[in-house]
Amino acid sequence: MKLALAPMEGLIDEHMRAFLTRDGAFDHCVTEFLRISDQLLPHRVFHRICPESGNDWKTPSGTPVHLQLLGSDPELMAQNARRGALLGAPVIDVNFGCPSKTVNQNRGGSVLLQDPEEIYGILVAMRAAIPAHVPLTAKMRLGYEDKSQAIDNALAMEAAGVDSLCIHARTKVEGYKPPAHWHWIAKVKEQVRIPITANGEIWTLQDYKNCQQASDCNDIMLGRGAVANPDLAMQIKNQANGKETQTGSWLSRLHDMLWMIQETIDCGNTKFSAGRIKQWLVYFQKSYPQAIEFFQEAKRIKTSLQMIELIEREITRLNH
Ligand SMILES: Cc1cc2nc3c(=O)[nH]c(=O)nc-3n(C[C@H](O)[C@H](O)[C@H](O)COP(=O)(O)O)c2cc1C
Repeated sequence: MKLALAPMEGLIDEHMRAFLTRDGAFDHCVTEFLRISDQLLPHRVFHRICPESGNDWKTPSGTPVHLQLLGSDPELMAQNARRGALLGAPVIDVNFGCPSKTVNQNRGGSVLLQDPEEIYGILVAMRAAIPAHVPLTAKMRLGYEDKSQAIDNALAMEAAGVDSLCIHARTKVEGYKPPAHWHWIAKVKEQVRIPITANGEIWTLQDYKNCQQASDCNDIMLGRGAVANPDLAMQIKNQANGKETQTGSWLSRLHDMLWMIQETIDCGNTKFSAGRIKQWLVYFQKSYPQAIEFFQEAKRIKTSLQMIELIEREITRLNH
């Protein structure tokens, strides 16, 4: 059973990847998407989207980082995929799920799910351009407006030479609204031979079990659930081995947030860290009731230093 950490634009950057893969529970993670619109991107852009490229495309704990590309021009996608592979990306992944209006207007992401032939053309060009030993993978939703082309899209991807496919069990129109339609993944899986990874709406160990059963998939990708409960991946991995893992305490999460601020400051990203902590707190509210009240104070904070003070105050309060 393989566990993947989902790509999440604007949230799962190299710092979050380092944190969420710290215990080795994930088998791989994925960069935020690199948008391919009008050129062969310079090397530095690849290194920026994946600073771990300087560490053999692995997070500090040794978890491989796959490179995700988004775009629709077959030639440009092929050239950039080749460059990524030659720079050492262990896997090239293609985004066919992004619901963003701007991205879709430029024919990137989920809008392509309306045209399996176009998807086929993009992936054939990419497969031909990257070295044979570098896998090409794709991530799709069940469709754009409806699910009628889900199987055709998966078949097009398989025919184009994709090695494995991750399916987020919702259409573009369904956005992130629960439920995720895991049983639809099983319908698609029945029709293709490539490995399928199921994704969407897994927040707890029980969700994982339900998803695995409904989707008929062993391999699972976690996104928001891993951010809300950074122990979820280990809980899933351990229960597969017959072990039980507790969810970390709120106090341990406060220490995790301090670690994250320090990590971003050390990398010169001070401007973002307070905002990133607020974003993280929104997810923590799913797993930790204490985060609800704490967020009310944190949301007013503007700087990293003020955020550190607030978190340290909360730690002191809990320790007394
Ligand atoms: C803030 C945010 C950013 C995302 N960015 C990406 C992305 O860059 N590429 C991608 O393929 N999916 C992206 N997704 C979709 C997730 O990878 C995942 O498919 C989705 O959140 C469902 O899984 P979950 O319920 O486990 O979060 C994003 C989702 C969110 C909420």
